[in-house]
Amino acid sequence: MSSEQFSVVILAAGKGTRMRSARPKVLHPLAGRPLLSHVLDTALALKPTAVYVVYGHGGTNVVAAHETYPVRWVEQPEQLGTGHAVRCAVPEVPDDHRVLVLYGDVPLVRPDTLQPLLDTRGVALLTTVLDDPTGYGRILRSGDGVTGIVEEKDAAPEQRAVREVNTGLLAAPAGPLKAWLVDLQSDNAQREYYLTDIVAMAVAGEVPVVGVPADEPAEVQGVNDLVQLAEVERLWQRRAAERLMRSGLHLIQPDRFQLRGELIHGSDCSVDADVICQGRVELGHRVTLGPGVLLRNARVEDDAVVDAYSIIDTAVVGPGAQVGPFARLRPGTTLERGAKVGNFVETKAVRLGPGSKANHLTYLGDTEVGAGVNIGAGTITCNYDGAGKHRTRIEDDAFIGSGTELVAPVTVGRGATIGAGTTLTRDAPPGTLTLERTRQRTVEGWRRPGAVSTRQAGDDDPTPSESS
Ligand code: UD1
Ligand code: CA
Repeated sequence: MSSEQFSVVILAAGKGTRMRSARPKVLHPLAGRPLLSHVLDTALALKPTAVYVVYGHGGTNVVAAHETYPVRWVEQPEQLGTGHAVRCAVPEVPDDHRVLVLYGDVPLVRPDTLQPLLDTRGVALLTTVLDDPTGYGRILRSGDGVTGIVEEKDAAPEQRAVREVNTGLLAAPAGPLKAWLVDLQSDNAQREYYLTDIVAMAVAGEVPVVGVPADEPAEVQGVNDLVQLAEVERLWQRRAAERLMRSGLHLIQPDRFQLRGELIHGSDCSVDADVICQGRVELGHRVTLGPGVLLRNARVEDDAVVDAYSIIDTAVVGPGAQVGPFARLRPGTTLERGAKVGNFVETKAVRLGPGSKANHLTYLGDTEVGAGVNIGAGTITCNYDGAGKHRTRIEDDAFIGSGTELVAPVTVGRGATIGAGTTLTRDAPPGTLTLERTRQRTVEGWRRPGAVSTRQAGDDDPTPSESS
């Protein structure tokens, strides 16, 4: 470890034209978070004295999206090149610091890969060797040291053949760096102030320049367009999936698992294809997630099963509970031990007590359900009267017949039975049968309009006058 203090400068002012998007490039999401957040996390993990972020295009949104980060924001009003960008940030950096330059659009680099740049004296460049170096600055070497970096657009043919490239990430001593930045010229193919020109200046000033190769080219992959964004996403997801599998999570199809947040899990959980985890997700032991399940800020406890294509959003699935297929648990739902929510059931702000079931085609909102309750198919809590929300209470061991409408506020007492098809507008007393239906009748000899009569012509026409 170096004892030298250091500051980090993150370049994030580029327009990102090739993204073909109105959104600033560094706000495009990687694993559900802005590209820049990943770089900020990496920078802060190194424990620098300060982090400066150079922003430009769409800057206010970039700053607003990261307001909780302890960093200093520096505006680069015009994008005059990487050298100019660093020059905007360094005046506040003490001369005896090292400066580590990172890019807001190179999000996969790990702290361990950057540490050697901080531990090296002089200028340290992170490099990598590519089969196809097109578009990158080439590293020019003589003997052990680096003598310069030449941009693709300025390179002679034999320089273009060099496969060791500049990742753009580097560290340099702040004092000399400030002097070099002041001397930069923009007499190049792009009329920009190139940060890379400091290498030749360091060499001229006999400051050592070292190229530190990154082990994994994928780690220093930048994002310039949506194709590269997808590549970086895949790399990030592969890393996450490998980490989870090594910690004992059984991902049946690791290439078809998406983590967009934080996942903690117990042992012997099984995750089928196309599961998406967003925000903070917790799985207990022996949890089974079927294909296409979406979990967002959710906790699924021991032995629970969430079957195919269910959504668990800001909700808790208790031990041994069963959900889905095709269920939607909305915010504020808690299923207690052994509860069941089946297909085409939606819940919101609901507590479903131990062993209670809503197995088919049901909406429960703002509802407290006790233990051992059976909620029949097609039950709906009418919790909204157009102005306010009202609560429904269903006590232990109640039985709600199919097709019931519970018009809140309303309570179904302990052990009560509600007959199928009831529209319940007043409380149902405990231990009783409550039903609300019109008496069934059959109209003999009724004919559908236009239907050919099966009766003799001349018979009385019995069509009821109140039919509609
Ligand atoms: C740069 C390097 C090149 C390297 C490549 C790696 C220079 C001159 N060239 O080229 O050697 O191989 O990165 O990807 O440094 N930015 C600003 N302000 C500016 C210009 C750029 O903040 O005025 C930021 C961009 O947002 C981006 C980073 O700096 O995050 C790199 O800029 P970019 O234009 O992509 O540099 P390249 O031309 O690709
Ligand atoms: Ca680039």
